[in-house]
Amino acid sequence: MGDAGEKQQLHGPSYDMRALGFVSGETVVVTGAGSGIGKATALAAARSGLNVAVWDIVGDSAVETAREAKDLGVEALAVTVDVADAAAVADAWEGTLPLGACRYLVNNAGPPSLAEGAFADNLAIALGSVELVTSQWLARCGEEAASVVSLASIAGNFQGGGRAIAPFYPAAKTGIVGYTRYLATRYGGRPRANAVAPGVTITPRTAPMLGNPATAEVVARIPQGRLGYPEDLASAILFLLSPAASYINGVLLPVDGGASLA
Ligand SMILES: NC(=O)c1ccc[n+]([C@@H]2O[C@H](COP(=O)([O-])OP(=O)(O)OC[C@H]3O[C@@H](n4cnc5c(N)ncnc54)[C@H](O)[C@@H]3O)[C@@H](O)[C@H]2O)c1
Repeated sequence: MGDAGEKQQLHGPSYDMRALGFVSGETVVVTGAGSGIGKATALAAARSGLNVAVWDIVGDSAVETAREAKDLGVEALAVTVDVADAAAVADAWEGTLPLGACRYLVNNAGPPSLAEGAFADNLAIALGSVELVTSQWLARCGEEAASVVSLASIAGNFQGGGRAIAPFYPAAKTGIVGYTRYLATRYGGRPRANAVAPGVTITPRTAPMLGNPATAEVVARIPQGRLGYPEDLASAILFLLSPAASYINGVLLPVDGGASLA
């Protein structure tokens, strides 16, 4: 981020997380997997032997992520879906069935933190969609459902966000944590439900911030001195999803280089 002309690294290392207990051929649905954190998570899952259903509202990007996942040697399916549309989500679950019972779910899709529009509408998209996708998953795959991880944020949960974000965003992200805690206790701990709280992470959504003096100030306050990579989030999400995390239920894990403590 620092010196003028310095090339900003956009990605970090990615790991094979098969040792965490995933069984090859089990399936994960990742929403918003056409880009950013969702894409990195889908590819990390593929690298770990999971079949991947790539859900995204942008069909072309879902197809591209699914192609890259297949290149890693697993089965993958691109599903075009608006996760805020109940009928479309029902169709998406139908379309995902050919991949087999869905043991894992990652609720990643969500509107940008500065999305325009009415508070209630954006809340329904950002928070309501998580309940929509998850409740339909449980209705269809309840027996097989093992674990769900949802994307919250440090905004709302560890800091206010101030002028940098629209008011619906921290409200939705704290709501996702509340819903996660509900899920964690509602069904006897199966599926396990956890959430991650990214700090500012370099994705197509945030890339325009790179090089701004204001971003340099944000980085200066992060104890690890850099923004997050999508792969930092993917590793944390895969761990919480995995059998290796089998006694972790209902937590919110910050993945922010220590920013929430600074
Ligand atoms: N990048 C960050 O700094 C950051 C920080 C905190 C939290 N998060 C959260 O992480 C998640 C991913 O963010 P990102 O930066 O990778 O975003 P991104 O814009 O790179 O990717 C989001 C993907 O979700 C898809 N999507 C958006 N709305 C959708 C809908 N209604 N239905 C289906 N797909 C939809 C988009 O097409 C896109 O492919 C979001 O929930 C975001 O709030 C990100």
